[in-house]
Amino acid sequence: MRGASLRRLFFLLFLLCFTTVKVLPAGLTMSPSRSQFFRGDSVSLSCEEDNISTGWTVRRNTTKGTRTQCGNEWGKLAGLTCTISILFIGDTGVYWCESSEGAASSSIQLTVSGKIRLWS
Ligand SMILES: *[C@@H]1O[C@H](CO)[C@@H](O)[C@H](O)[C@H]1NC(C)=O
Ligand SMILES: *[C@@H]1O[C@H](CO)[C@@H](O)[C@H](O)[C@H]1NC(C)=O
Repeated sequence: MRGASLRRLFFLLFLLCFTTVKVLPAGLTMSPSRSQFFRGDSVSLSCEEDNISTGWTVRRNTTKGTRTQCGNEWGKLAGLTCTISILFIGDTGVYWCESSEGAASSSIQLTVSGKIRLWS
């Protein structure tokens, strides 16, 4: 009985460690998590990383510019989270996280549709 519970606990701990390790590489997370947005929607983009000191920023490529940084010409940066409170069609593009040393995360395609959402 006790041995079985202990084994289960260790198994859970092992799973937990494994999950944490998988999350470790810096990545961009999007909230809400979808690739299709509507004009007027808002979105939050966060850099997930294991090392705060490396200074990650959110960058994007759109038809309006390449490698532009959140907080300069678009979006509002708070810590590691970049928020675009009102999306426009021109915000359609590729988004990624980049460290001050130039290391880049995998990128996310964000598409803003011109239709206005009629439901919430
Ligand atoms: C964290 O950042 C520091 C300074 O840039 C670097 O020296 C160190 O190797 C980094 N550690 C990891 C685990 O990336
Ligand atoms: C962004 O645009 C630059 C210049 O065209 C290009 O070199 C880079 O690979 C693009 N990045 C992504 C993630 O598409």
